[in-house]
Formats: sequence, structure tokens, C-alpha cells
Amino acid sequence: MARSERLICAARDLDDGGAGVRFEVRVAGRREPAFVVRFGGRVFGYLNRCAHVPTELDWIDGQFFDADRRWLMCATHGAIYDPATGRCAGGPCRGGGLVPVEVVEQDDAVFVLERSED
Ligand code: FES
Repeated sequence: MARSERLICAARDLDDGGAGVRFEVRVAGRREPAFVVRFGGRVFGYLNRCAHVPTELDWIDGQFFDADRRWLMCATHGAIYDPATGRCAGGPCRGGGLVPVEVVEQDDAVFVLERSED
């Protein structure tokens, strides 16, 4: 199975605890909404799908963090997730978590790693 990198954004587009960047990723032959954020200096990618009800998390496009810039928060019912692991840390997502998406930062840019299903 081949693996490819696709550009998401420039590294400078992601502030720590700031706005994320939305993109789509191929999963099981379908394109799914996803996002990338920076936290603790590192980049983390997840499917844009709450573990409570499968809806997108951001309250405005690209706004995933709570006011303290500490947790990723679902705009619908307030579930909060650890940005570094995707694990639910409170709210109706309890016991669940976000689905990670492989992203990598290199050469001042951020890429998603996808596996082709050819
Ligand atoms: S849909 Fe996300 S907390 Fe309910």
C-alpha cells in the first residue's frame, strides 16, 4: 500500500493553542473532514468528528480550542478533548476520543500522510 504526503498548510499558519486548519483526508475510500492544530509546539491531526454524536467540532471554521487554549472543544454539547492525545477529558464524549490523523511538520510546512488504496 503506497503512502503519500499532501500539503495542508504552512507551519506558520498554526499558532500554539490557536486556530486550526481544516482539510479532508481519505479514509476507507471516502473523503472525511479533518483538522490540524498546534499544541505544546507540536502538530496534531484528527478527524473532525465528535465522539458523542458524529458532528464536526468547530464552532466557527477552524476554531477548535476552548477560551483557555487548553482543550479541544465540541461546539455542540461542550465535550472537551486533550489536544495531544484526542482523549475525552470531560462532557458527553466520556470514554471516547477523537480519531487521529497522521500529520507531519517538515520544511516549514504541515502535511497529512495518506495511504492509497490502490
Ligand atoms: S456532539 Fe459533540 S459534545 Fe455532543
